[in-house]
Amino acid sequence: MEGWDLLPSSRWVPFQTPYKLTLCLLLFVILISSIYLSNWIATTEWGFPTPNATEQGVWTVNPKGRLGNQMGEYATLYALAKMNGRQAYILPKMHQHLAPLFRISLPMISRSRAWRIPWKDYELHDWMSEEYRHIEGKYVRLTGYPCSWTFYHHLQQEILQEFSFHDHVKEEATRYLAGLRGQRRNVTYVGVHVRRGDYVRVMPQVWKGVVADKAYLEKAMGYFRAKYQEPVFVVTSNGMEWCRENIDASRGDVYFSGDGKESSHGRDFALLAHCNHTIMTIGSFGIWAGYLAGGETVYLANYTLPDSPFLEIFKPAATFLPEWIGINADLSPLRSGMTG
Ligand SMILES: *[C@@H]1O[C@H](CO)[C@@H](O)[C@H](O)[C@H]1NC(C)=O
Ligand SMILES: *[C@@H]1O[C@H](CO)[C@@H](O)[C@H](O)[C@H]1NC(C)=O
Ligand SMILES: *[C@@H]1O[C@H](CO)[C@@H](O)[C@H](O)[C@H]1NC(C)=O
Ligand SMILES: *[C@@H]1O[C@H](CO)[C@@H](O)[C@H](O)[C@H]1NC(C)=O
Repeated sequence: MEGWDLLPSSRWVPFQTPYKLTLCLLLFVILISSIYLSNWIATTEWGFPTPNATEQGVWTVNPKGRLGNQMGEYATLYALAKMNGRQAYILPKMHQHLAPLFRISLPMISRSRAWRIPWKDYELHDWMSEEYRHIEGKYVRLTGYPCSWTFYHHLQQEILQEFSFHDHVKEEATRYLAGLRGQRRNVTYVGVHVRRGDYVRVMPQVWKGVVADKAYLEKAMGYFRAKYQEPVFVVTSNGMEWCRENIDASRGDVYFSGDGKESSHGRDFALLAHCNHTIMTIGSFGIWAGYLAGGETVYLANYTLPDSPFLEIFKPAATFLPEWIGINADLSPLRSGMTG
């Protein structure tokens, strides 16, 4: 308060003139009304992007992981909020992952507003349970890595609508696929997602499991080659070098797409989702590609030892749709201690 002391005899009589009095009063009024206004915004529906927030509560989900996880979390929030009669909102991080690709409809809640809400965290395991139909609380934040059709498959049409692509994404994927057709007259596109990266180390070391090997991919592709006249395999992976070395492309029906970099994640996903059928290995990215493509999905089954701790957090029957086609993994490298 430097300026204060410059005025003689102002110390105990600050409001000497009407001018200063008016100024101080004005500042006081502005201060008080801004406190009231921000409280009002925080506690009424005015601060939320949709009405009814005060009655219906504000539910969200903790956005963890990358695209596939975020999709699982989004769909689970969508379904559970609906079941419990609550309004769902997503946090900015989830919006960043999903909004560039999809025409999602759940409103976003800003970071500053989310920060002021007294959330009650609710931990989910990875399959639907009866108790999830009756979750108490107006301000619930779901947590975990839910990716199971058991939460949302009864709302399949709505979920597919939420994950419908923006036109420019759709057009780019369709154009790319049309470019692979060549002279084929009756082409069937099969998206192949080969998850590598950290899983190659984590599966054997942490989960007593394996990732997809060369023989699995050969069998899965064989299934489609036998069934469809002119299949075209569109391979995406975060380990493209391994794919080029281990997937036999000599028949001329295999195309390696993208550079396997994180930056092309969304583009890879859109390609897979626009194919007619899916070969997945492991991970939620492939699961969602299969769900969106909506054709036949071949997956790697039984890829851990029976005593794997993975089976405590992961139920295969809740992860893969019953009509999907499982091909058993070869666990012999685990048993002989030769993995990687
Ligand atoms: C708001 O709530 C009322 C009753 O609680 C309901 O009739 C109305 O459809 C809701 N509106 C929206 C946009 O959810
Ligand atoms: C196109 O291929 C599918 C199987 O791949 C076959 O069922 C269908 O009859 C074919 N159509 C034509 C016009 O050849
Ligand atoms: C296969 O996928 C292509 C590209 O998305 C699409 O144009 C075509 O209609 C699909 N074919 C069938 C039989 O669904
Ligand atoms: C995986 O193992 C279980 C138990 O041994 C078996 O019932 C199931 O058929 C296997 N899955 C496939 C796709 O073979």
